[in-house]
Amino acid sequence: MKKIIVAIDGFSSSGKSTMARQLARETGYLYVDSGAMYRAVTLYALRNGMVGPDRSLDVAALVRALPHIDVAFALASDGNQHTLLNGEDVEREIRLMEVSEMVSPVAAVPEVRRFLTRLQQGYGVEKGIVMDGRDIGTTVFPDAEMKVFVNASPEVRAQRRVDELRAKGERVEYADVLANVMERDRIDSTREESPLRQAPDALVLDNDRLTREEQMQWLLDKFHTIAGD
Ligand code: DC
Repeated sequence: MKKIIVAIDGFSSSGKSTMARQLARETGYLYVDSGAMYRAVTLYALRNGMVGPDRSLDVAALVRALPHIDVAFALASDGNQHTLLNGEDVEREIRLMEVSEMVSPVAAVPEVRRFLTRLQQGYGVEKGIVMDGRDIGTTVFPDAEMKVFVNASPEVRAQRRVDELRAKGERVEYADVLANVMERDRIDSTREESPLRQAPDALVLDNDRLTREEQMQWLLDKFHTIAGD
């Protein structure tokens, strides 16, 4: 069995992280949530006064700070992989709405993308990795052996996000979350640097129509065919 790189891309809340995490668990591969890395940099910007009251981003200050930002992952005591920002476990904080609302502008900064892309490519040197995001199959690992693009409607994704946030005790309205999902889609697909695009050689997974079990089976079948396992 050869080790491969699996790149899973798609819109926000398309369910790709859950799928990617599960695929990694089933195959013994390393899982890397590239969106969490953009969220951690966004949290740094929020904490360090780089976001104005009008939600404007001080791009120059953020770019100057990049050498002082370290994003990493560690296995936490709950058995899940958590995101670390300069050594601090920020897994919970990076999922809050205030981070979600600022992450697209941060992710549109070319220097931030170059900084995180290099880190992400480092994780793939030995292959045996599942990474999910927006530009993994196009920019981070254009030569990935298996590329998947997950399709799901904004309404289904917004409802999923509402359920997740409410389960965590956040008080959110469906309409606000739908607006956030659609605004992020717009920014993520129209930014100049590495916009969200489907790689021409990506397999397309239609998330609206398949159950979670069917999606996993589909992914595992493709994985075994490609990895020759
Ligand atoms: O997958 P997510 O919603 O946690 O990602 C958070 C944001 O990060 C999303 O709005 C777009 C950005 N992102 C990106 O630009 N490139 C990636 N590879 C992953 C995420």
